[in-house]
Amino acid sequence: MSTVTKAGLEDVVVSTSDICFIDGREGRLVYRGYDVDDLVAHSSFEEVAYLLWYGALPTRKELDAHVKALSASATRRLPPKVIALLRTLPRRSTPMEVLRTGVSALSAFDPDAADNSREATLRKAVRLTAQMPTLVAAWERLRRGKPPVAPNPRLGLAANFLYMMTGKKPTDLATQTFDTALILHADHEFNASTFAARVTAATLSDLHSAVTSAIGALKGPLHGGANEQVMLMVEQIKDPARAEAWIRKALADKARVMGFGHRVYRVEDPRAKHLRRLATELGEQAGNTAYVQILNTVAKVVTEDKHIYPNVDLYSGAAYAVMGISTDQFTPIFAISRVAGWAAHVLEQHGNNRLIRPRAEYTGATRASYVPVAQR
Ligand code: SDX
Repeated sequence: MSTVTKAGLEDVVVSTSDICFIDGREGRLVYRGYDVDDLVAHSSFEEVAYLLWYGALPTRKELDAHVKALSASATRRLPPKVIALLRTLPRRSTPMEVLRTGVSALSAFDPDAADNSREATLRKAVRLTAQMPTLVAAWERLRRGKPPVAPNPRLGLAANFLYMMTGKKPTDLATQTFDTALILHADHEFNASTFAARVTAATLSDLHSAVTSAIGALKGPLHGGANEQVMLMVEQIKDPARAEAWIRKALADKARVMGFGHRVYRVEDPRAKHLRRLATELGEQAGNTAYVQILNTVAKVVTEDKHIYPNVDLYSGAAYAVMGISTDQFTPIFAISRVAGWAAHVLEQHGNNRLIRPRAEYTGATRASYVPVAQR
């Protein structure tokens, strides 16, 4: 048996996959061969979900059918008993706890729950990708004592989510920004939450169970939860004029600065530049440029002093905050995009499966003698 390589499975290659390629040295992200920069420029989140699941860009006819399935009210709507379950939760419950609970509950109402065939898992992938935004938005309303806003089948996934969150039709810039953020977060090779989904799927468990595992992993501040922590840092700094002194003190105190560093990228995360651009445009349109100014100053100091670069989580929250989205909804937004990637990886794992079961290098005792408690 080989000995432990690096902690955290760093640089350990556990399987082949043709869904997502990350070039950590060049700072490139590729979904099924297509550079994410091209997909941001020309595609939509709905089309990217199709690409991840089927491995090819859809024809016009295929795309229209795919968008229709994702947008239909029947697909987006939550079963009334799931909404009733949400109403029983304490209003202080965090959106990620509610999302994890809600996805798990949705399996009890899914007609394909027990079917792990590719066709059934694809149907469930459509339903979960359509229902999770409704789930996040429903909690946003219920925890404020308001009734959930019904999904609008005439709106695309990005616009419909913002509409259900606020009750108002979003601006074109907000819709385009959100659609781009969804494209950028859709997949990322064997990140912690995706690997959690694959380990679950490798036992031949179902998509809902794999997505529930993934949501639990994404919740952590070292992973998806970082975008919320970045915004808490911005709120602590408050004034752009205080940013440099604040970050220099944080670094002097050896603090871990959220939104920076990555297990794979050795240069800036290729997603950060798009999110920085969108947060800047939205901030200028809203007359609120302080968040981005603070982040740019922090990024300059951290990059120059620590040679650690911005990752996907640094600017996303600044864009969401300007759109009026609460900080504790940032990680659920990550999840409503990444479910497209999680589903693609579950399909790939089920398609060529072997149980994922690594070993441990045992370092404990092996022949201890039992001593009765009276003699201890
Ligand atoms: C995501 O894996 C994915 O692909 C994830 C993701 C995806 O799309 O799924 O890209 C999304 O999770 C992005 C990462 C979001 N997390 C954060 O922003 C949290 C802050 N970042 C760090 O915690 C850290 O960079 C990690 C967890 C992201 C990666 O850490 P590693 O590879 O385990 O590296 P490490 O923690 O061992 O750090 C190596 C060195 C250490 O210095 P030394 O102790 O060796 O002197 O770099 C330093 C660390 O102290 N370091 C940081 C730092 N990140 C690394 N120091 C300060 N601030 C940081 N953010």
